[in-house]
Amino acid sequence: MTDQVTIDHMLALAKDMTKRSYAPYSHFHVGAALLCDDGAIYTGCNIENASYGGTNCAERTAVFKAVSEGYRHFSALAIAGGPEGVIGEACPPCGICRQVLSEFCDADMPIYLAKAEGYDEYTLGQLLPLTFDLLEK
Ligand code: THU
Repeated sequence: MTDQVTIDHMLALAKDMTKRSYAPYSHFHVGAALLCDDGAIYTGCNIENASYGGTNCAERTAVFKAVSEGYRHFSALAIAGGPEGVIGEACPPCGICRQVLSEFCDADMPIYLAKAEGYDEYTLGQLLPLTFDLLEK
């Protein structure tokens, strides 16, 4: 259970990370904040590439930063995104990010999606039912 202060902090970090977004092609700026089980938070932004396929989403940037620093257990994720970084509707994670999250996160992990006013909340399992998985968890 993530407390409200932490949720609000994560949403603020995710919104702030949209400023780091490198999105000269889509102009869609995304930020993410990933809460580790010891309370550490790793942030990320989307980083686009002229090849398009080389683009990395904000959520995966945050996951890869955290995993590369030794974290493998996560308890919540906040995402903020919109055209030119203007947050309007909730920005749900893409399918590739949902699959990458499922590698390290439980199905009941909450995902908070920033909106112009407030946020929506889902679990990873709601966003990715019938998950493909090769490992016993
Ligand atoms: N994007 C993310 O960063 N996260 C998502 O889950 C959805 C899409 C980025 C990728 C690309 O840079 C831009 O948003 C438009 O698709």
